[in-house]
Amino acid sequence: MKIAVLPGDGIGPEIVAEAVKVLKTLGRKFDLEMAPVGGAAFDIAGHPLPAATLTLAKDADAILFGAVGDWKYDSLPRELRPEQAILGLRKNLELFANFRPAICYPELTSASSLKAEIVGGLDILIVRELNGDIYFGQPRGIRSSELPLFKGAREGFDTMHYSEPEVERIGKVAFEAARKRSKKVCSVDKANVLETSQLWREVMIRISKNYPDVHLSHMYVDNAAMQLVKAPKEFDVVVTGNLFGDILSDEAAMLTGSIGMLPSASLDINNKGLYEPSHGSAPDIAGKGIANPLATILSTAMMLRYSFGMGIEADRVESAVQKVLAQGLRTLDIYTDGTQKVSTREMGDAVVKALS
Ligand code: IPM
Ligand code: MG
Repeated sequence: MKIAVLPGDGIGPEIVAEAVKVLKTLGRKFDLEMAPVGGAAFDIAGHPLPAATLTLAKDADAILFGAVGDWKYDSLPRELRPEQAILGLRKNLELFANFRPAICYPELTSASSLKAEIVGGLDILIVRELNGDIYFGQPRGIRSSELPLFKGAREGFDTMHYSEPEVERIGKVAFEAARKRSKKVCSVDKANVLETSQLWREVMIRISKNYPDVHLSHMYVDNAAMQLVKAPKEFDVVVTGNLFGDILSDEAAMLTGSIGMLPSASLDINNKGLYEPSHGSAPDIAGKGIANPLATILSTAMMLRYSFGMGIEADRVESAVQKVLAQGLRTLDIYTDGTQKVSTREMGDAVVKALS
């Protein structure tokens, strides 16, 4: 079981180090190989996703990814910016299915900005399509406007599109996931305005016929954003496109108290996957030892379950995380009165201890 370990920028190296400790405690043989990615790779190799890193990721059975991005790269052209590393990995490895669970742990209910009765016990799963949409659509660019009113002015443009097979494959993933949960899929689109969404909705309805045991509903994305804060527990599985999924998954994350708690998995058709925390590189707190490593540690649990079929070990890691929360240990992002503030490393050590 070869794992490509790509720590990246900002808090990436700190949180990945803790997750690696956890993997090493499990007593299974993992072959871990590190490579630079993002801004860190740009500094060394002049590209955010160097060929050697991409090759390592392709050869590995799974990828553990930290985070990429830092303001100091803001002035680089788009193709050299750190974000291109994660987008390039997703696209090159055809990791089209992104699982972003949002679970509100009982111990953290009070860390949420929403009322306890709204978020207590929340357990939803956002299934975000990751290879298509306006993120990758062509043509795109900056050109001279042809609009009579703004003729000649600089104009940015991007293209949103989804083909039927792309919607079908992500739809199937969502329905299969719902079968193992509360058997509800809510498909989020903007079918009242966009043709892309109109086709998306048609395909979802068509494939739902193969899943008579799963209830399918539809919601426009603006309403979904509202319902997520109004009554999030009404959702089970939410399936949506790349752009809407990007936005809604951050919103869902905050319902749980901290984005620092949420793992994610990005899978290809064979369940090979890239595992990363749902949060970003947080350069403002990098190197201070205050980042929460739990999202990355929980991402390794997803890796064990989805890519390695090691459900027992995955359960062990998740229980260890629950145990440290029950012990009252908190990094700064989830700290509330009466709990014990710990550093990134102390949190990782506590999970390791809870495991052994
Ligand atoms: C995410 C991030 C990325 C995205 C960025 C870093 C390109 O926000 O994983 O949600 O937009 O997909
Ligand atoms: Mg995002």
